[in-house]
Amino acid sequence: MLPPGPPLPPAAQLAAWIYEPARFFLACQRRYGDVFTMRLPGAPPRVMLARHEDIRAVFSADPARLHAGPANALVEPLVGPRSVLLLDGAEHLRERRRLLALFNARSAVAHGDTMRALTDAMVDAWPVGVPFSLRDAMQSLTLRIIVATLFGATAGPEGDALVRTLEGLLDLAQRPLLLVPALRRDLGALTPWKAFRAHLDALDALLAPRCEARRRALDASPDDADDVLAQLVGATEADGRRRSDRDVRDELVTLLVAGHETTANALAWTFAHALDRPTVCERIVREVNEVTGGAPVRASHLDGLTYTGAVIAEAMRLDPVLAHVGRQLTEPFTVGAWTLPAGAMVVPCIWLAHRDARVFPEPERFAPERFLEGRTSPHAYLPFGGGARRCLGMSFALQEMKIVLATVLRRASLARVAPGRPRVTRRGVVWSPAGGVAVVQRRPPRPPADGGVT
Ligand code: HEM
Repeated sequence: MLPPGPPLPPAAQLAAWIYEPARFFLACQRRYGDVFTMRLPGAPPRVMLARHEDIRAVFSADPARLHAGPANALVEPLVGPRSVLLLDGAEHLRERRRLLALFNARSAVAHGDTMRALTDAMVDAWPVGVPFSLRDAMQSLTLRIIVATLFGATAGPEGDALVRTLEGLLDLAQRPLLLVPALRRDLGALTPWKAFRAHLDALDALLAPRCEARRRALDASPDDADDVLAQLVGATEADGRRRSDRDVRDELVTLLVAGHETTANALAWTFAHALDRPTVCERIVREVNEVTGGAPVRASHLDGLTYTGAVIAEAMRLDPVLAHVGRQLTEPFTVGAWTLPAGAMVVPCIWLAHRDARVFPEPERFAPERFLEGRTSPHAYLPFGGGARRCLGMSFALQEMKIVLATVLRRASLARVAPGRPRVTRRGVVWSPAGGVAVVQRRPPRPPADGGVT
């Protein structure tokens, strides 16, 4: 039997899920409690979980009983069927291990200088006195960072073409209506789906020759395989065969997409919260200057930036960019008082769990200090998901966010055009600050890393 949920028709629930997700989740929780069932057209029932006790049951269960692939099916047209996001079982585990080796904490450190150099270049190019969207700026920056990480810092003109094509593609992919499988149809030249397919083909046309060239170079000098692309194209299957072009393409697109849009929006939310509170920004700049001694921020400084990290953690608590993660049951599964049937989707709701007043007193208050006072359970605080599917770019993303936040606040004097808590809007599966966090730079930026205080 399924827990109760709103009696609205599935199409009305879909509209609320797309356009007013935060208010809808809260209203359902108030009416039905911490476990409730949502119904969307043509999809299995979604049992939403808001308490860490229930979320723990999901994340600590055998992954064979709860598959994430079907829950991630919405992104399949973009990332392809061979993406780690879509796989389950032994195939998932093999792919995940391979990618974790590329994006572990040590390898993230190797990219720290690139992250800072690209951030400095972005700040140097910002206008003074003219409003611009910080969310868009972060999207462009994080995309450049992941392109440089995958293809090398000198990605060159081809790198620029990749960035442009991906930006076009993601602008189309974020349209909420493309989340509805029934609307993914080619209904003529101007329909979003047709344009989306054309951008996807353009992206594949850029990636294929690049992979081919890297594979040839690798064959010629097998020892020169330090970069991420070489490790992806050079990887072999369990039986020693080279991986197929299709597999490599899906993995590359997964990393390009998962590796920047989330981070960009998490940064946009963090800036929105911090810029509204001058004392928070001052404390971050003070900490950065103390830890670096005025030198450029490097990966080796990041462990010392504890307050900066707490601000990021608190922004991701209040406004997690992926607000829920799903698992489809392969067999009946017990959560609390409910035994849920095979086929149902269980959905740990990150957004609601982060508002549990038992764990986070005064949950709507922005209070970074909470994260200076010891560890929080990974089932109560889960901006990167959990269990066998926890985000494999977590170390990379946290390092990137610290470097960007520290570098920008130290150099640029930014003011929000319309201060206050932004409303949530969906960009595809990501929850983004509505209005894009418009800001104005009040005066020209300080030179890179002069140790000054804004
Ligand atoms: C602030 C930034 C980020 C956030 C908030 C975030 C969040 C998440 C979440 C919630 C999941 C789903 C976990 C689950 O189902 O339990 C996930 C999965 C994933 N993320 Fe991230 N992510 C971020 C950055 C990144 C980066 C930088 C990369 C790559 C370099 C990345 C690659 C992935 C991949 C490949 C998966 C699938 C893992 C699997 O299915 O085994 N993410 N992420």
